[in-house]
Amino acid sequence: MGMGFYNSISAVFLSSFFMHTFILHSCLPCFALPGNETDRLALLEFKASITHDPFKVLTSWNETIHFCSWHGVTCGRRHKRVTWLSLPSLKLGGSISPHVGNLSFLRVIDLQENSLGHEIPPELSRLHRLQDLLLHNNSLSGEIPTNLSRCSQLLQLGIGSNVLMGKIPKELGLLSKLRIFHIYFNHFTGGLPPSFSNLSSLEKFSATYNNLSGTVPDIFGRMTNLSFLALDLNSFSGMLPPSIFNLSSLTALYMGMNEIQGTLPSNLGMVFPSLQIFSITINQFSGSIPVSLSNVSNLIELSMGLNQLQGKVPPLTNLHKLKRLVLACNHLGSGGIDDLTFLCDLSNATHLEILQMFTNNFGGTLPQCIGNMSSSLQRFHIAENKILGSIPNEIANLANLEALVMEENQFSGHIPPSVGKLHKLYQLRLGGNSLSGNLPSSFGNLSQLNELYLGGNKLQGNIPPSLIECHNLKILYLGANNFSGMILQEIVGLLNLYRLSLPQNRFIGSLPENIGILINLEYLDISDNMLFGEIPASFGGCIKLEYLDMHGNFFNGTIPSTLSSLRGLSELSLSHNNLSGTIPEFLEHFVFLESLNLSYNNFEGMLPIKGVFKNATATSVEGNSKLCGGIPEFHLTKCKLQHAKKDGLSLTMKLVLSLICGILGVIFALTFLYLYCSRRDKKGRAASDSNKFPQVSYQSLLKATNGFSSTNLVGMGSFGSVYKGVLEQGETTVAIKVLNLVRHGAYKSFIAECEALKNIRHRNLVKVLSACSGFDNRGHDFKALIYEFMVNRSLEEWLYPIHTIGETNERPKSLTISQRLNIVIDVTMALDYLHHHCEMPIVHCDLKPSNILLNKDMIAHVGDFGLVRFLPKAAENSSGNQSSSLGIKGTIGYAPPGKYA
Ligand SMILES: *[C@@H]1O[C@H](CO)[C@@H](O)[C@H](O)[C@H]1NC(C)=O
Ligand SMILES: *[C@@H]1O[C@H](CO)[C@@H](O)[C@H](O)[C@H]1NC(C)=O
Ligand SMILES: *[C@@H]1O[C@H](CO)[C@@H](O)[C@H](O)[C@H]1NC(C)=O
Ligand SMILES: *[C@@H]1O[C@H](CO)[C@@H](O)[C@H](O)[C@H]1NC(C)=O
Ligand SMILES: *[C@@H]1O[C@H](CO)[C@@H](O)[C@H](O)[C@H]1NC(C)=O
Ligand SMILES: *[C@@H]1O[C@H](CO)[C@@H](O)[C@H](O)[C@H]1NC(C)=O
Ligand SMILES: *[C@@H]1O[C@H](CO)[C@@H](O)[C@H](O)[C@H]1NC(C)=O
Ligand SMILES: *[C@@H]1O[C@H](CO)[C@@H](O)[C@H](O)[C@H]1NC(C)=O
Repeated sequence: MGMGFYNSISAVFLSSFFMHTFILHSCLPCFALPGNETDRLALLEFKASITHDPFKVLTSWNETIHFCSWHGVTCGRRHKRVTWLSLPSLKLGGSISPHVGNLSFLRVIDLQENSLGHEIPPELSRLHRLQDLLLHNNSLSGEIPTNLSRCSQLLQLGIGSNVLMGKIPKELGLLSKLRIFHIYFNHFTGGLPPSFSNLSSLEKFSATYNNLSGTVPDIFGRMTNLSFLALDLNSFSGMLPPSIFNLSSLTALYMGMNEIQGTLPSNLGMVFPSLQIFSITINQFSGSIPVSLSNVSNLIELSMGLNQLQGKVPPLTNLHKLKRLVLACNHLGSGGIDDLTFLCDLSNATHLEILQMFTNNFGGTLPQCIGNMSSSLQRFHIAENKILGSIPNEIANLANLEALVMEENQFSGHIPPSVGKLHKLYQLRLGGNSLSGNLPSSFGNLSQLNELYLGGNKLQGNIPPSLIECHNLKILYLGANNFSGMILQEIVGLLNLYRLSLPQNRFIGSLPENIGILINLEYLDISDNMLFGEIPASFGGCIKLEYLDMHGNFFNGTIPSTLSSLRGLSELSLSHNNLSGTIPEFLEHFVFLESLNLSYNNFEGMLPIKGVFKNATATSVEGNSKLCGGIPEFHLTKCKLQHAKKDGLSLTMKLVLSLICGILGVIFALTFLYLYCSRRDKKGRAASDSNKFPQVSYQSLLKATNGFSSTNLVGMGSFGSVYKGVLEQGETTVAIKVLNLVRHGAYKSFIAECEALKNIRHRNLVKVLSACSGFDNRGHDFKALIYEFMVNRSLEEWLYPIHTIGETNERPKSLTISQRLNIVIDVTMALDYLHHHCEMPIVHCDLKPSNILLNKDMIAHVGDFGLVRFLPKAAENSSGNQSSSLGIKGTIGYAPPGKYA
């Protein structure tokens, strides 16, 4: 019967057809269902356990067509029983129904790359015909069912990239036909079962990234077809078993990141004639690199970094296909003249891309033949050796070089100007050598350059003005050289700079007035130079600064009040200058400040006592004879209480200002009171009391959001994505904000938000139910905040419906005047609470329609506290505390917080 028959059959025929089968069945002598009916029911059970089907593929699984035509189902031609169940990469969520174990003719189950959770049903072990079980890239948990060993026909078992745990059942050794066996990226523990020695058909085996331990058992004797073996990223120890060196078919051996010891056999190259990848990085192998390796002409990757290998690197003449050679962090080389001659052997390796030999004992000079090496070379990394002599001009032939890292050697002579020809250079690190002469002006051609480290040499002269052409420069280290002249006015043109380190040179002159436009700067060290003049007021613009060291110069004048915006500072040193004036109180409120050095200046007046000043180890003020007050540990004199006269003018200004503010405040409060009272009866309920939520784990969030599937994505903020999810306990619908930690500042955003939300509670603020801080399945940092879910989403979606992300709902997005007024009042209440009724006043800093969320009753809630700032209570006293540059913290297009404060 052709499939078309089922598609074209009419409803009338269909009902009589079912009647017919029903009669047939009831005539059968035994009570068992016919096989095809079992299959149909099993498939329907499978469908029922799929809770999430974004592409709606399972809607085709309905009664109007025969199950053999359902999407992903294939039946045998004659018996019409299900033989294939293939639904890969469809974002299916839910679980695998145990009823699948009833599809007794099944040969292939392919459910890879979905979001299926729960356990692998042990009922699958009934599928005696099963050949391929492909479940990798899901969220399956629990252990491997031991009975799976009864699927004796299995050829492929793929359960990698799940969250499976427990020991690997020794019974799986019974699967003597198994060819491909992948259990990578799970949480398996224990050792590899010795029974695996029976897996004589094995061709590929990967157990990468588990917690497996113990010695690798001697199981490889009969695996004559094994070509791919990956046991890397586990905790295997001891020596490699002898039988591993019988695997003559091996093309890839991954053993990296274990604790394996022993030496490599000298005939290594002979026993693995087909080897393409040999990776033993991060282990405890000792002895020398076998000379026979140079016969393995198919070798593409040779990675032996971080072991205890020693001796000479053998000639690698025949390795023409080599792409990666990683020998870093060993004891290779003798420190002798000919240590690096093997580099000349690599001139025929025309695909070589990566050469990493840092942290070894290589001596001698860098041979000129380096210029004959493949121009495909991208990374050349020989830092921390004992290499002498000059950098050969010929290095410029490596036209595709992206990283040239040769720091901490004994290179001398000039930097060859030809380096400027390496147009793709991204990272150039030559620090810690004895290089002399000027910085070649050809460096201006390195337009891709991101990092330039030249610190700790004997370089001299001015910074060449052409350096300004390196627009992408993010990190510039020139410290501990003999550079002189002015710090370039133009350096402030390098707007991407985030680390600038120029200490211990002979730079003179004053800092560029407009240094504040380097808004990405996080680290600035200009200490121990001969700089003078006042600290430019524009410095306040470098709002991302975390580290500022200006000690050991001749700066004079006062600390400008604009520095009050540098609230991210964790280390500030201004010691050994000629600075004067009082120590500004705003430093008390820099919550991240861990080290403050103001010693040996001419500061005067009262030393603040709060914040960092509470800690006499973190703060240093010695050598300022005119300072008084402070905590007793500083042993300063008591202050005479008359500092008011020092700014008499601004005192009257303050009086006038506070008068104006007072009047405005009264007007505001009255309006507020009126509005509040006029609608209080409409909405009764006050903020509900806090019910303690348990700490939520990554796994439960994974479940709650169907594996963070895109259908659950309800928004993207500046610091991460927001998902809708249903927590298992209590069926609560929540919004889960996952912080994108890669993005700079996200971590701080998490801290700020946690801090802000810990203590505050108000009916017009989004309630945080819980937080999750830990690691994801891959061991990466994971941070998320769990909020109550706001059904009516953000005000932005109501005001500008076009911008809406995700599915469009049909509801009209238009607000009535009274709704708008109520939202305004709600937000005002929230801000009033934040500004006036919290333990410490809080400024939101990013108030905008997308951060105003509406619940089912259209009550507005202010959310997203990622940029929050705590205002000191005494803010009124220290003028200039709210610098306008703070506005940069917000999102472009919205009012800076100063206008709300
Ligand atoms: C099931 O098999 C019986 C006979 O073996 C056949 O008559 C019937 O049409 C089949 N039903 C389906 C739904 O394939
Ligand atoms: C049943 O499946 C067919 C084929 O995919 C589809 O066209 C039809 O809409 C489905 N019927 C229902 C009720 O979902
Ligand atoms: C199918 O499997 C389920 C669960 O394993 C079992 O309870 C049920 O009896 C089976 N049905 C048939 C018809 O074999
Ligand atoms: C697993 O196998 C054991 C015996 O080997 C048996 O008792 C048990 O019922 C099996 N479980 C399933 C789910 O098939
Ligand atoms: C698993 O999924 C990830 C992310 O979608 C993908 O990068 C990876 O290649 C997949 N692995 C396999 C074996 O399919
Ligand atoms: C590279 O190959 C050429 C031609 O096959 C050969 O003459 C030359 O000796 C080889 N160079 C090295 C260093 O092996
Ligand atoms: C700082 O020093 C410069 C000269 O080095 C001088 O011209 C200037 O007046 C000084 N400023 C203050 C505030 O002392
Ligand atoms: C004081 O500062 C030191 C150094 O920064 C730090 O190690 C110590 O924990 C701080 N003490 C307190 C009480 O914060």
